[in-house]
Amino acid sequence: MKYRDIEKVLISADQINKRTDEIAKQITEDLKGEDVVMICILRGATLFFADLVRKVDTSVNFDFMEVSSYGSGTASSGEVRIIKDISTPIENKNVLIVEDIIDSGHTLSYLKRILKQRNPKSIKIASLLDKPERRETDIKGDYVGFVIPNVFVVGYGLDYDEKYRNLPDVCVLKPEVYA
Ligand code: PRP
Repeated sequence: MKYRDIEKVLISADQINKRTDEIAKQITEDLKGEDVVMICILRGATLFFADLVRKVDTSVNFDFMEVSSYGSGTASSGEVRIIKDISTPIENKNVLIVEDIIDSGHTLSYLKRILKQRNPKSIKIASLLDKPERRETDIKGDYVGFVIPNVFVVGYGLDYDEKYRNLPDVCVLKPEVYA
């Protein structure tokens, strides 16, 4: 039923699970036993975040942040504002921003800039997906799950019109859904 608008599965739940294991292992190695504050960017990153935090093998604090970008249609204008800030102080802490997708890059450029102003010890980005063809900034993910082509994807946290976030896989919608 929940797959009725889906044309195909692009990345399966099994692939996501295996890749998240690899990313978590790399993050754990890079932290060398130090603590980390992992920040989930609402709402798309929630499922990736929930899986990733359980696989990272060090002491983790976590918090949530919501931002919105003003833009016309699906394109980001580059103007971003905070809807909900973290309440965790991050000065001298290792910070890992967790996102579902890097598209134009405006959201993460903004987030990295404002979080850096709080003087963390380190700041890195983990993103499940990366769409480099759409990039308008020079932001890069430190840990990227999958590089994908310029197709609109839903599932595993990602939405179209707030739907499909609960699909276990990253999927491509049927074109008529947009029509
Ligand atoms: C999406 C995604 C990223 C951002 C990426 O969020 O979760 O935060 O867009 O786009 P960018 O690289 O062009 O800035 P969205 O605003 O759709 O909110 P959501 O996570 O609640 O779905």
